[in-house]
Amino acid sequence: MTQVQQIVLAKRPVGDVTLDCFREESANLAEPADGQILVRSRFLSLDPYMRPRMTELRSYTPPFELGKPLTGGSVGEVLESRNPRFAKGDVVIGMLNWATHTLHDGKGLRKIEPDTVPLPAHLGVLGMPSFTAWYGMKHICKPKAGETVFVSAATGAVGQVAGQLAKLAGARVVGCAGDDEKCLWAVREAGYDACFNHRTERDLGAVLDKLCPQGIDADFENVGGKIFHAVFERLNNFARVAFCGAIAEYQDTQPMAGPPKMFTIIQRRLTIQGYVVSDHVALMGDFVNEVGGLLKAGKLRARETVVDGLAKAPHAFLGLLRGENFGKLVVKVA
Ligand SMILES: NC(=O)c1ccc[n+]([C@@H]2O[C@H](COP(=O)([O-])OP(=O)(O)OC[C@H]3O[C@@H](n4cnc5c(N)ncnc54)[C@H](OP(=O)(O)O)[C@@H]3O)[C@@H](O)[C@H]2O)c1
Repeated sequence: MTQVQQIVLAKRPVGDVTLDCFREESANLAEPADGQILVRSRFLSLDPYMRPRMTELRSYTPPFELGKPLTGGSVGEVLESRNPRFAKGDVVIGMLNWATHTLHDGKGLRKIEPDTVPLPAHLGVLGMPSFTAWYGMKHICKPKAGETVFVSAATGAVGQVAGQLAKLAGARVVGCAGDDEKCLWAVREAGYDACFNHRTERDLGAVLDKLCPQGIDADFENVGGKIFHAVFERLNNFARVAFCGAIAEYQDTQPMAGPPKMFTIIQRRLTIQGYVVSDHVALMGDFVNEVGGLLKAGKLRARETVVDGLAKAPHAFLGLLRGENFGKLVVKVA
């Protein structure tokens, strides 16, 4: 038996998530059975997609179960193994419980070299969010030199990489973020041509007209809602929209209206494509080569927020939905 700490879904949120949706508890894990491994979590990634998974709504991932630990992308260390694919001491990445330890059948876990980059980077700039940015920018936005690209949540885990990739492709890149310090970082460190604060800017249309005078050729959409409405009206002919996320809508109890004048899609011959990164795992090797190479060459900047201790995960998750994180949000579990 191993005694573990874990965080379970205590109730489903309606509207904004509250701390009482989570419960921290102790549990006893049995010894690994044949085929199983016992993994100790080192870092847990907190991601916006977890909010829709707290509800029962049909989505591309099944809902979290009431009374069971939530799960999330994690890096951990194998403590015991009765699975021939893993040995004690291996460092693995994949979905683990919001817990100090997880008993796992090994499916979907993969070994990583722990010494190449700091462990949290495997969950951020060399992991799922960055892969999401790379796929959406390279395969959907396809920016060309001289074009204008817009990125919402410009300094988040996904947005910060998306913006820099567009810049490296020669585009003029404009973003928005929810805080002046984030906007400053976007321009000074990540190379955005401009970034505005969407929480203090009163007229989103006017600021977009000022910062994107030639219109928008590609939109990397992380937010949805009124930011997307304003961007949509300024899309040029043949513009591409990589619809990556709609975080502005994740806590809404009523569906948010789409942009008016949908005939615009035809008039301007727009491509609007939603995508889910897990459909594209076959391209992971290409991503690692390209983005890993940029990192090594010092051509990519990445911010992260590390929260110390599993018990703080619920509070940190609420903060993620309010924009309190700066860059990739991870929890140091052990
Ligand atoms: N399609 C896929 O496969 C895939 C994969 C990963 C992520 N995603 C999506 O990509 C988006 C970004 O994810 P991430 O991991 O990079 O998260 P993140 O940007 O690191 O964190 C979320 C950020 O969203 C912003 N935000 C929150 N509520 C907002 C609102 N109402 N209006 C405007 N901005 C708001 C906040 O930044 P500010 O301070 O700047 O407001 C917050 O820091 C999310 O929508 C996520 O669901 C999709």
